[in-house]
Amino acid sequence: MPRAKMPVEPYRVKVVEPIRRISRRERKAVLKRAGFNVFNIPAEKIFIDLLTDSGTSAMSDNQWAGIMLGDESYAGARNYFHFAEAVRAIFGFPHVIPTHQGRAAERILFEAMVKKGETVPNNIHFDTTRANIEVRGGIPLDLAIEEAYDPRVELPFKGNMDVKKLDRFIRRTGPKKIPLVMMTVTNNSGGGQPASLQNIRQVSEVCRGYGVPFYFDACRFAENAYFIKKKEPGCSRKTVLKIAREMFACADGATMSAKKDALVNIGGFITLIDDDLARRLKNLLIISEGFPTYGGLAGRDLEALARGLQEVLEEDYLEHRTGQVAYLGDLLDKSGIPIYKPVGGHAVYILADEFLPHIPRHQYPGWALTVALYLEAGIRSVEIGGVMFAKDTEGRGKARYPKLELVRLAIPRRVYTVSHLNYVAEALAELYRNKDKIRGFRIVEQAPHLRHFTVRMEEI
Ligand SMILES: Cc1ncc(COP(=O)(O)O)c(C=O)c1O
Repeated sequence: MPRAKMPVEPYRVKVVEPIRRISRRERKAVLKRAGFNVFNIPAEKIFIDLLTDSGTSAMSDNQWAGIMLGDESYAGARNYFHFAEAVRAIFGFPHVIPTHQGRAAERILFEAMVKKGETVPNNIHFDTTRANIEVRGGIPLDLAIEEAYDPRVELPFKGNMDVKKLDRFIRRTGPKKIPLVMMTVTNNSGGGQPASLQNIRQVSEVCRGYGVPFYFDACRFAENAYFIKKKEPGCSRKTVLKIAREMFACADGATMSAKKDALVNIGGFITLIDDDLARRLKNLLIISEGFPTYGGLAGRDLEALARGLQEVLEEDYLEHRTGQVAYLGDLLDKSGIPIYKPVGGHAVYILADEFLPHIPRHQYPGWALTVALYLEAGIRSVEIGGVMFAKDTEGRGKARYPKLELVRLAIPRRVYTVSHLNYVAEALAELYRNKDKIRGFRIVEQAPHLRHFTVRMEEI
């Protein structure tokens, strides 16, 4: 892995939010009360919060100024039009339907498109798309290239879909049983890796050949487009906006959690070409999210979102953003900590089963590492492994574990500085030196879907 340069922030601080490091004794008590689930820890008890990059961005002065211009009319607020214009300028689809966040967009789209027994291929489904397909009786299918599951192969576009597999699958299953194909950019559940423009075009061609709609899960489209600019031959002179437009020109629509690359704390949308489907989606939207010009958001949220979508395409910002992630990855790599390579756009992923080789998969090494990191340094991370994705680990069937057992250190946008990243790297290096003391976990209580959010655990 080439050595990462120290990223210099392309912003200066105008407002500060104090964070506090509580004592180790207090952290121990907090963990116990939380059932050893970091989702249950009050944020005030966290020092550095790398749980997610979703909804945790710092907004700019320009976005905050936009907040004051919120038009809170029930229907047709002016901010809706700013928002829809900003989305169309990038995505290019005529219909723009706001939702309160990404999973609401998914739920509504799948309610209209997916029937029982139908399959939705993706490079790798994120947990909410997976769950939203499963609750409709649909089958989420991951078709990422094989290398996506190999944390050691350093390829530029490990978020790519296996086009041959996709083609074969559609041919065998029949396009009528496939309501849509999705592509997650960047691929959050596979190391935050980008997909190339070439791969996106190939996937699009296959879908068009069979008449199957192609949608993006576009949360981190700007990070993906920036990687294309940096890594894909022939793209270095294009603007990130131009690349994003070329990506979306391949598709029929997209869902987006605006909590990522729209640099806001809440929001999402569906954008698409199909007039009839858009009408049906709006009818579904009215039942749960609200009128189609606000979709569960305030006028001020829509304004911040419109402005964030423009700011996220600034190349200084994207260079720093991806630079921060590369810098943290480099520090961990130097300490010998096993990480997924290359580092992706929004997070560093630790290979938890290699970090803790003495903890077997059924004792959830990733989970154990998230608990240890909080106890050691007040840092919150998230397990993307056995607790999040395994099937039947506590039942009578044969347990099936995901290929990778990861702990994700997601970096919120424009929030932490180099010294925060240094602190995280030092804490992990210390844990790695004393890894033999870390113990595994067993599940005490769990929910049928998305169990990681609420599961309670005990140390073995
Ligand atoms: C790839 C991907 N898709 C969908 C979602 C769901 O978005 P939200 O959390 O806004 O519902 C997320 C959230 O982390 C994500 O990373």
